[in-house]
Amino acid sequence: MDRLFPSPVADVDDEQLLSWYAMPERPEGWVRFNFVASVDGAATVQGRSGGLGNAADFRVLHLLRRLADVVLVGAGTIRVEGYGGDLIGRDGRAWRAAHGLSPHPPVAVVSGRLDLDPDAAVFTDAVTRAIVVTTEQADAERRRALARVADVVDAGEASVDPVAAVRALAERGLVRVLSEGGPTLLGSFQQADALDDLCLSLSPALVGGTAPRIAVGAGEHLHRMELAHVLEGEGLLLLRYVAAPPAG
Ligand SMILES: NC(=O)c1ccc[n+]([C@@H]2O[C@H](COP(=O)([O-])OP(=O)(O)OC[C@H]3O[C@@H](n4cnc5c(N)ncnc54)[C@H](OP(=O)(O)O)[C@@H]3O)[C@@H](O)[C@H]2O)c1
Repeated sequence: MDRLFPSPVADVDDEQLLSWYAMPERPEGWVRFNFVASVDGAATVQGRSGGLGNAADFRVLHLLRRLADVVLVGAGTIRVEGYGGDLIGRDGRAWRAAHGLSPHPPVAVVSGRLDLDPDAAVFTDAVTRAIVVTTEQADAERRRALARVADVVDAGEASVDPVAAVRALAERGLVRVLSEGGPTLLGSFQQADALDDLCLSLSPALVGGTAPRIAVGAGEHLHRMELAHVLEGEGLLLLRYVAAPPAG
């Protein structure tokens, strides 16, 4: 994998990647989303994201998890893609131990309806007990069932308020938030301006059809970002954007 911008670097190693993707340990939290999309903007092929990635993309994804205090995922992505088990591997754990981090970041699932199976791998195979981020109005019975396998946290009344969700995670010491989607979750975060960092893998492929974009939601909201770097691996571009400072 090579870096193309800001200055060219050939054959980058993992330590270089980890330094370029480092997240600040900001007390109020730092929120990164990581996505893969086709050049025509599709976030899925036949309902899944896996067909868009390649080895370079997976390499960076695993390094991003290594840097995170928590991996935040929308319930829709959990229902479609699964999740669970070891997300970072033995090397990842060793690296985290050497850098004073917890052995493995928990997965935090965002859900309003709590339509989640307590026997799903994200809960039963979790290396670190999972977190469910929901609302005060969530169904009490589902909440009780999930509380047996995860820590259930409220962040909002009728829907999850992204700012409150980040605050609730920060109160648990989880300030470096890596979200792996999906589009509804990113849509709500970008609408709330609760997004600091976007890592987008641009796959050298067209999809067409009606696949969703990486951010969807009820309203449009211009969330400007600045390009931090561009990497290239096997024809796939890895773009990192960070939030632009407020105008004026
Ligand atoms: N290209 C990529 O990198 C990528 C990454 C991730 C996922 N995906 C794809 O995206 C598709 C899933 O899309 P999606 O939009 O359904 O995924 P999603 O954003 O993961 O899940 C949406 C669900 O998350 C919950 N949710 C999200 N934001 C919420 C909020 N502010 N308040 C309350 N609940 C909230 C709701 O769950 P409840 O319904 O339980 O209330 C909602 O139905 C899958 O096909 C997956 O493969 C692609």
